[in-house]
Amino acid sequence: MCNSSNSALLSGFNIGTHRVDMPLALAPMAGITDLPFRLICKRFGAGITVTEMIASRAVDQGRERTERMAEIGPEEHPVGIQIAGSDTGYIEEAARWAEQRGADFIDINMGCPVKKICKQVAGSALLKDEPRVARILAAAIGAVQVPVTLKIRTGWDEHSKNVERIAKIAEEAGVTMLIVHGRTRSQMFNGHANWEDIGRAKQAVSIPVIGNGDVVDAATALEMLRISGADGVMVGRAVQGNPWVLAEIRDALLGKPVNSNASIQRWPVVLEHLLALHEHHGERTAGQLARKHVAWYSKGCTGSAEFRRDFQRLSDWQGQLASAESFFTSQAEQEELQHAA
Ligand SMILES: Cc1cc2nc3c(=O)[nH]c(=O)nc-3n(C[C@H](O)[C@H](O)[C@H](O)COP(=O)(O)O)c2cc1C
Repeated sequence: MCNSSNSALLSGFNIGTHRVDMPLALAPMAGITDLPFRLICKRFGAGITVTEMIASRAVDQGRERTERMAEIGPEEHPVGIQIAGSDTGYIEEAARWAEQRGADFIDINMGCPVKKICKQVAGSALLKDEPRVARILAAAIGAVQVPVTLKIRTGWDEHSKNVERIAKIAEEAGVTMLIVHGRTRSQMFNGHANWEDIGRAKQAVSIPVIGNGDVVDAATALEMLRISGADGVMVGRAVQGNPWVLAEIRDALLGKPVNSNASIQRWPVVLEHLLALHEHHGERTAGQLARKHVAWYSKGCTGSAEFRRDFQRLSDWQGQLASAESFFTSQAEQEELQHAA
């Protein structure tokens, strides 16, 4: 139990016409936070969702995969479509494209540390070129009616942190909400997120700032907020195979007693996820994605290592479904027996 005062910790804010009472955001994660998983996370408590990053150059190529990445659910609002790029022309085009696909806001990625993206001076490499940051934001904001938000890291490396300056540039450009992952680019995913640096951005501007990095449960969410003073929390890797952690964090943000999710019935969630993957991506891609999601869902279960090894070898969809059902339902039975004993 983290807090029992029963009063909301955060006051919320607006993104355009949408009121966000629960500033708990699901982090965009390429290859993970597609529509099926975002909808599950939404139901468990995410108040804001964002699609995976879409390269701005990809949007006019008419690829089915790109369209699928931008698909959003009717019950998902407010939801952002995230775009990345360094060329203002492409960014304008991508922002308009995303707006036409129903995004409530356009999120610009300036946090991606991947070499291929940074080489094109996109993602977190842009943090080294502040005038270009301003130009890209102005281009996106000028191209669409919906709000534009920005996701950044705290700088390129330890010696060139510029999170406050970037935050100010964003606010001056007209960005509606800033998301700060408290790592530099050179940290990649190593070390710890620096929540004080998120606080530096928060102090520098008056637009809502969402803190991100290493929040894994209710306690770390509250600690990140205490240290940074941020207006909201974004959670990424901790939701993998564990979307119910969002319910725990939501309750903490509402000032409610936090219940452990130890007794959660995994199989109904896993089944819903698998069927939605199948519908959204088709059998081949769903089968590939199922391997990583099912492996994550099985973490901490009895006999999970052996199950994962066997599951990775399966190549047909029906076999995957049957194997997952047998594993997760027998887990549930074992848990019931343990509770009854
Ligand atoms: C597999 C993976 C894919 C990611 N893809 C994106 C992405 O497409 N866009 C983005 O802004 N951040 C992306 N991120 C970064 C996350 O949104 C988040 O900032 C980071 O994981 C830190 O938060 P966490 O400690 O809660 O995971 C990705 C992270 C991971 C692990």
